[in-house]
Amino acid sequence: MKHLVTATVTFMALAAPAFAAGDADEGKSVFGKCKSCHTIAAPDGEVFVKGGRTGPNLYGIVGQTAGTGDFRYSKALVSAGENGLVWDEELIAAFVTDPRGFLKEQGGDNKTKMTFKLRKGGEDVAAYLATFGAVAATEEGDAMETTEATEGEASNDATTEGEAASE
Ligand code: HEC
Repeated sequence: MKHLVTATVTFMALAAPAFAAGDADEGKSVFGKCKSCHTIAAPDGEVFVKGGRTGPNLYGIVGQTAGTGDFRYSKALVSAGENGLVWDEELIAAFVTDPRGFLKEQGGDNKTKMTFKLRKGGEDVAAYLATFGAVAATEEGDAMETTEATEGEASNDATTEGEAASE
């Protein structure tokens, strides 16, 4: 029982809104702009979006260290990863809007090979990418809510039992 409580607390901490999360459905259409250069394909070979090879495969990119996929990255992106850049939705949203400006802010070489800039929809495309590979956040959220409710009922029962026992 105790580990369930811990899991719930951890989830709530993760869910704290650092930035306005995007809409994965919207992001799916935004990804049409990325497709010419990026494919989304699982390690087992399943292809979700058949796109170009000018850029790296973006399957499981959320939670992955920058510049560590199977791709000949620029030195800029590799060193950003070495300096600890791990993609989350917020960082991807910022990167795609201005790859060079973003890497410059990271404090390193900004000569990325990604020449494309997205005008809007960065959060949405990031939310879409988050649905591939890593634990799907929304599914986990639903599961946790259920757990929480059950947990509440269970501890009420426990209290009642405790009182009964002490009499
Ligand atoms: C013109 C081709 C092109 C387009 C269009 C493009 N990218 Fe890229 N992308 C690249 C290249 C090339 C790299 C590798 C950059 C480097 O090595 O500096 C890259 C790198 C990335 C990375 C980092 C990957 C990693 O493994 O660290 C992310 C995330 C990314 N792109 C997301 C997107 C998204 C989202 C879009 C659409 C909004 C997009 N890209 C559109 C070419 C493109």
